Order: sequence, then structure tokens, then C-alpha cells
Amino acid sequence: MANIIPLADVDGALVEDLLDAAFEPERRARVAYKVREGTEWLPALSFAALDEDDMLAGTIQCWPVALTDPDKRRHPMIMVGPVAVLPALQGEGYGKALVLASIAAIDPRAPLPQVMIGDPEYYERFFGFTNAHTGGWRLPGPFDQRRLLCRSANPAVLPAEGLLGPWRG
Ligand SMILES: CC(C)(COP(=O)(O)OP(=O)(O)OC[C@H]1O[C@@H](n2cnc3c(N)ncnc32)[C@H](O)[C@@H]1OP(=O)(O)O)[C@@H](O)C(=O)NCCC(=O)NCCS
Repeated sequence: MANIIPLADVDGALVEDLLDAAFEPERRARVAYKVREGTEWLPALSFAALDEDDMLAGTIQCWPVALTDPDKRRHPMIMVGPVAVLPALQGEGYGKALVLASIAAIDPRAPLPQVMIGDPEYYERFFGFTNAHTGGWRLPGPFDQRRLLCRSANPAVLPAEGLLGPWRG
């Protein structure tokens, strides 16, 4: 059973080591890093999972981003990810526990849409992220449109087109 704690309680160097273990070394060149460039992860929505020996098993970070529509209106969103679980511990429920912790922490009175780049086979099946509304969205670099996913309580308000980038207030 995963023990979920705030990511802010974990040494940042341990988090970086875990991300290096879960992703390829070139992870920092990914377009997701550009989308959230210059922003800080949101402490209230970011978590760590500990295994039964209280060792770090996985992490999730969420970031403030915005989709800028063709009229230059900026629509605030929450970018979810990276979600990472140590390779040796994958498939044991840590990923699910982490994503559910972030989703549950979002204020239900102002549920901003959540956007992420990930496998729809995982994120749609368990959490309802879908690429159904993101076909006209662009990112500041190359990406696979199929893997650009959004989860929203009210998809009707989502812009059909826009460029995703960091939220700068
Ligand atoms: C993707 C990831 C976060 C999932 O976490 P996890 O703890 O391994 O997964 P869980 O134990 O919560 O869920 C397991 C279930 O999800 C399925 N699953 C896991 N990764 C999947 C994927 N990429 N595509 C489809 N299904 C997947 C498993 O088959 C399993 O299904 P089952 O319950 O029917 O057996 C983790 O595997 C990981 O860190 N991968 C490398 C980094 C990555 O790609 N992160 C996502 C992009 S930000």
C-alpha cells in the first residue's frame, strides 16, 4: 500500500535521481519541459509515494500552464507530470495512487482542466484523460498529438485551438 506524502517533504536531489531512473537521460529536452519553462511545480498538487520501507517509489508534479487561443486569450490549466515510478516497482499501484492524489487535491470549486503528455491507454483507462478535445492544440516543439491528453469537468469550455505554454500571471 503506497504511503502518499507531499513532494515538498522530499529532498529534491532524490526526486531528480528517481526521474533519471524512470525516463531516458535526455528527458530535459522533452517538449513538456518547454511547456512549463520558468514555472515552479505546485506544492499542493505534487506528491511522492513511499514503499513499505519508507523509500521513495514514485513522484508526481503538477505545474501552472496556459493555453493561448487564436484571440490571444489565455486559459489557465494544470499540467500533470512527470509521473514516475521506479522501474523495479512499476505495476504495483504507485502510479494510480499518485495520479489520484493530485486529482483529489484539485479544488472542486475551481476545477481547472488538467493537461498532460502520456499514454492514453493508461491515463484514459484509469483517470479519464482523453485526446478527444486536443486535436487543435499545439506545443512549443514536436509531439505526438495522440499523447496530448486533457481531463476536464466541462469539455465544452475548452478552446478548439491554442498554444500551450507556461502560466505567467
Ligand atoms: C506510467 C507509470 C507512471 C505507471 O505507474 P505504475 O505504478 O507502473 O502503474 P500502476 O501500478 O498504477 O498501474 C498498473 C496498470 O497500468 C497499466 N499500465 C502501466 N503503464 C502503462 C502504459 N504506459 N500504457 C498502458 N497501460 C499501462 C499496467 O498494465 C497495469 O494494468 P493492470 O492493472 O490491468 O495490470 C510508470 O510505469 C512509469 O513511471 N513509467 C515510466 C515513466 C513514464 O512513462 N511516465 C508517464 C509519462 S509522464
